[in-house]
Amino acid sequence: MRLIIQKDYQTLSQWAAQYVAARIKEAKPSARKPFVLGLPTGSSPLGMYDALVELYNKKEVSFKHVVTFNMDEYVGLAENHPESYHTFMWDNFFSHINIDKKNVNILNGNAKNLDAECANYEKKIEKAGGIDLFLGGVGPDGHIAFNEPGSSLVSKTRVKTLTKDTIIANSRFFGGNIKKVPKTALTVGVQTIMNAREVLILVNGHNKARALAHGVEGGISQMWTISALQMHPKGIIVADESACGELKLQTYRYYKDIEKKNLDPKSIETAKSIETTKSVEVTPKK
Ligand code: GLP
Repeated sequence: MRLIIQKDYQTLSQWAAQYVAARIKEAKPSARKPFVLGLPTGSSPLGMYDALVELYNKKEVSFKHVVTFNMDEYVGLAENHPESYHTFMWDNFFSHINIDKKNVNILNGNAKNLDAECANYEKKIEKAGGIDLFLGGVGPDGHIAFNEPGSSLVSKTRVKTLTKDTIIANSRFFGGNIKKVPKTALTVGVQTIMNAREVLILVNGHNKARALAHGVEGGISQMWTISALQMHPKGIIVADESACGELKLQTYRYYKDIEKKNLDPKSIETAKSIETTKSVEVTPKK
């Protein structure tokens, strides 16, 4: 697993956006062979989405032949509810780029048969040729997508009950009222994410420090589903300094040293093909 430690949220977001754009460009996607991206919601990826929109506006990346699969969606929230993940994705990303609506896949949390919806989602991913790059955030308790502590590390897309911790954490999007937060969600499984050819997890802020330490230094455990990344042949975490507070000094220095060439978001090896861009001002929005 690679751990790229960035100075702050802005450079972390820049780095991730440059990485994603580079991957898309390298793949030279076409209608016949699109690039397949797995996407998260939450506050962590907002800066990356802004930076990707900026790269798109500068014509440095195109999403014409990109197919997307979102990680999760709440159950029972109307698609046009301001806090649905459908709304989040269109407001923060899809409406600002040249993605074809038919290439966007988001789980339907209002499907009559939720189990069938989940099984069908897995089939759709398979039909699309699998996911090339799965992007994600992490919850303070180490969960990826909605794979809460105790989720099977070989889980696939399914209905999950949210833990009290997640409901409290996400209540900030529902006016601080935990009663308004849906209690269940549809989510891709840990295995669904691990089946991607590459996985990139964004970790920022002090409240993610324990999750990062467990993910990088802890054993592989269903109690910290981010730790499954240790089993992935191409797993990357990009973290900011604040999220590193619980890492051992040795671990921190080790990764700083082996990734020193890759710390400048403008000079990441994989983004060589992209012209150096001016920094985009990005700050956490929520
Ligand atoms: C939710 C989402 C996760 C996300 C996590 C952290 O539980 N289902 O995909 O990673 O929150 O969110 P944030 O980035 O807002 O901290």
